[in-house]
Amino acid sequence: MIKKILTADKNSEENMQSKMELMDEIIRGRTIRLENELKERKKIEEDLHNSLVELENSKTAALNLLEDLNRETDERMKLEKHLHRAEKMEALGLLAGGVAHDLNNILGALSIYTELLQNKIPEGNPLKAYVNNILSSCKMGEEIIHDLMIFSGSVVQEYSIVNLNKVIYDFFDTPVFQKLRDLNPDITFKKELSPELMNIKGSLVHLEKTVMNLILNAAEAVSGKGEVVITTENRFLETPLQSYVEIMEGEYAVLTVSDTGIGIPVNDINKIFEPFYTKKVMGRKRGTGLGLTIVWGTVKDHNGYIDLCSETGKGSSFTLYFPVTEDKPAENNTKIPVENYLGDGELILVVDDMAEQRDVADRMLKMLGYMVHAVSSGEEAVEYLKTHKPDLILLDMIMEPGIDGLETYRRILEINPKQKAIIVSGFSATDNVKKAQDLGAGSYIKKPYLIEKIGIAIRDELKRT
Ligand SMILES: Nc1ncnc2c1ncn2[C@@H]1O[C@H](COP(=O)(O)OP(=O)(O)O)[C@@H](O)[C@H]1O
Ligand SMILES: [Mg+2]
Repeated sequence: MIKKILTADKNSEENMQSKMELMDEIIRGRTIRLENELKERKKIEEDLHNSLVELENSKTAALNLLEDLNRETDERMKLEKHLHRAEKMEALGLLAGGVAHDLNNILGALSIYTELLQNKIPEGNPLKAYVNNILSSCKMGEEIIHDLMIFSGSVVQEYSIVNLNKVIYDFFDTPVFQKLRDLNPDITFKKELSPELMNIKGSLVHLEKTVMNLILNAAEAVSGKGEVVITTENRFLETPLQSYVEIMEGEYAVLTVSDTGIGIPVNDINKIFEPFYTKKVMGRKRGTGLGLTIVWGTVKDHNGYIDLCSETGKGSSFTLYFPVTEDKPAENNTKIPVENYLGDGELILVVDDMAEQRDVADRMLKMLGYMVHAVSSGEEAVEYLKTHKPDLILLDMIMEPGIDGLETYRRILEINPKQKAIIVSGFSATDNVKKAQDLGAGSYIKKPYLIEKIGIAIRDELKRT
């Protein structure tokens, strides 16, 4: 019995042992499995984390891309707007220029005949008053046409060295400004002019008109108490500036006219420079819609730029950029007495495709004491040159249908390389005038011309060696 128990005991001890070992194994197995599971879970967590980071990165990249895209679209839209604006103004310029050209010729003939008539009517004759009225109406018409021509870029301007500060100071001394100030006692006009402002190469008359129009508009925009501030400064642009238009890099004399007036509604901003666009009552003195048209044309002719900021109810600010020059202003011109530009029987060849213009030139030059021969085309002029030797040619630049003034002058120079010429044109491709002058032609005279102007130009050219 004891043996049995002992054996049984031994058996159960062994049993126990093996059970323990089995448990151990199971536990070890479980632990390993758990450890593996843990490892796997960690790996999954890591993967998940990595994926999350990647997702986050992709999200940022996508957002950046979207932002870039937005910015690009914005820029492209802005550029397109600028381009559209420039193209529209150019098309309007062409249209205005064409109309102005035709009217200019008609009015030119009208005013010159009237001038001739005026000289023939004795003092005290009641007809004289009528003629004077015609003449002053012609002058007003010519002013409007001239404004349109500036806008269309068809006026060759007389350039000199100009300082905008002086233009502003001089404007403040004019009766126009005095009147403006008297009529608007509640408006403060302030000048903040940089004493170091650099000079620009420009047409004084046009710059004066530009300054005047901006200041008049500014004052007209203010009702009641307000301010108009005129500022000048030098500004250097290292990179192009995206603004109302794209302003290229460069050194500029900058003129700003700001006001605290009514501002310009967003919808109007694209139209204000168009010829005849006005919100002011027609019939009033200022309300032709040509003020800003002049500003635009002048700035364009001076290779400058216009910037514009405006907020309805708060005011507007027009900023003009003009490329600077290192040159210094020249001395003032003095007026030349009439005796100095009378002719002495020299032979002048007039080349013009318009009969009235030939007629007018013929009369004027004969009055001044010249001999005149007139032809209606470049081809005829070249033929005439083969058998005659005029002292000077009065050459129209744009002629139809045949060769133009520039080509005529080229062919004439082949016959007589020293042939003197003066260029006359109402509507001229500036480049062609310049090219003819490079070939040796003298000054350029704008149609319609006055006797004095053409007289002086001819005298100067005949004296030139
Ligand atoms: N400083 C300004 N503030 C508000 N509106 C302006 C300003 N300048 C111009 N404008 C607007 O632009 C239009 C065109 O101006 P402009 O060409 O000078 O013609 P006009 O003065 O004869 O109307 C004006 O009628 C006006 O509506
Ligand atoms: Mg105006």
